[in-house]
Amino acid sequence: MITEKLKTDRENYAGTVARAAEILKNGGTAAIPTETVYGLAASACDAEAVKKIFAAKGRPQDNPLIVHISNMEMLKRVACDIPESAIRCAEKFWPGPLTMIFKRTGYTADSVSAGLDTVAVRMPNHKTALDIIEKADLPLAAPSANTSGSPSPTTALHVQADLDGKIDAIVYDGECAVGVESTVISFCCEPPRILRPGAVTPEQLREIIPDVTVDKAVLSKPRDDERVASPGMKYKHYAPKTDCFLVEGESDAFAEFVNGQKNAVAVCFFEESDGIKIHKLIYGKKSDESTLAHELFAVLRKVDRSGADKAYIHAPSKKGVGLAVYNRLIRAAGFKVIKL
Ligand code: TXA
Ligand code: MG
Repeated sequence: MITEKLKTDRENYAGTVARAAEILKNGGTAAIPTETVYGLAASACDAEAVKKIFAAKGRPQDNPLIVHISNMEMLKRVACDIPESAIRCAEKFWPGPLTMIFKRTGYTADSVSAGLDTVAVRMPNHKTALDIIEKADLPLAAPSANTSGSPSPTTALHVQADLDGKIDAIVYDGECAVGVESTVISFCCEPPRILRPGAVTPEQLREIIPDVTVDKAVLSKPRDDERVASPGMKYKHYAPKTDCFLVEGESDAFAEFVNGQKNAVAVCFFEESDGIKIHKLIYGKKSDESTLAHELFAVLRKVDRSGADKAYIHAPSKKGVGLAVYNRLIRAAGFKVIKL
């Protein structure tokens, strides 16, 4: 299949929004930008269209998709039993990088929820995404627009590298501002539980839901036989092909450790980079978790292009959005952590 390439510069914008909406209304697939990562969208109400998402990504059938909406009326079409605290989260964080899980109505296709009786919903904070959803007047199922298991795409070129020829269109719209996928919180348990950390932090959610909990799968490896609340958490995710290790310790110890490694690449902080004598990739300042999040997936893709056999990645702090970065990295490393 030939993937249409749709541009978003001023003279093409209206035509691109209209064309993407038309493709989606007709049961096709289109990669669209959001503020977190690019999503591979299809109508959430069309089971045949949803099948195309799973096929293009090679996504396991038991991993449900997030439904993207552009207004609160759409939320009521797709979800029910929405508690008051969730409405307050929507007021504070939507549009934005927060996905909320509720009991589902029958409005979206069963396959979107992979057989669960719940639905994950998000209103993205991205003008192009919102305009396409409004124009299509459809809730859009959209997982990250990468091949299943590889790092999430934060530019349209990342999408192209993974999915060109496998989907109907790609909307080209620059870099994603946040760089890690949305925070996922379930309101189908009491108290509500964070299943995946993102740019909306546990600290921020605690201001609205004081007893919110963080699922233990966020930082630890689920056992093979364990039922995880968020199926996506059980897969080795976000992984480059290179063998990755997450390394915890101070800058001096990190430099000494990596300098003794052969055929390896170090993923390090800006402040310590001078001391690192092997091939290195810098993913931001240690104290600036937002930049680390923004650079994370591009750096993981560069790890694979480096030609190294092994990658040693200096672990970030778990503060703020750092928790989301740590969560993605520990999965990229297949839970292999080296403590110095
Ligand atoms: O920022 C994001 O969330 C991006 C952009 C495109 O919006 N999307 C994204 O989708 O990251 P995906 O499919 O890569 O991740 C969705 C996560 C998975 O871990 C999945 O298991 C979980 O959300 N999920 C979706 N529906 C769920 C449900 N009903 N119950 C539990 N977990 C659910
Ligand atoms: Mg994903």
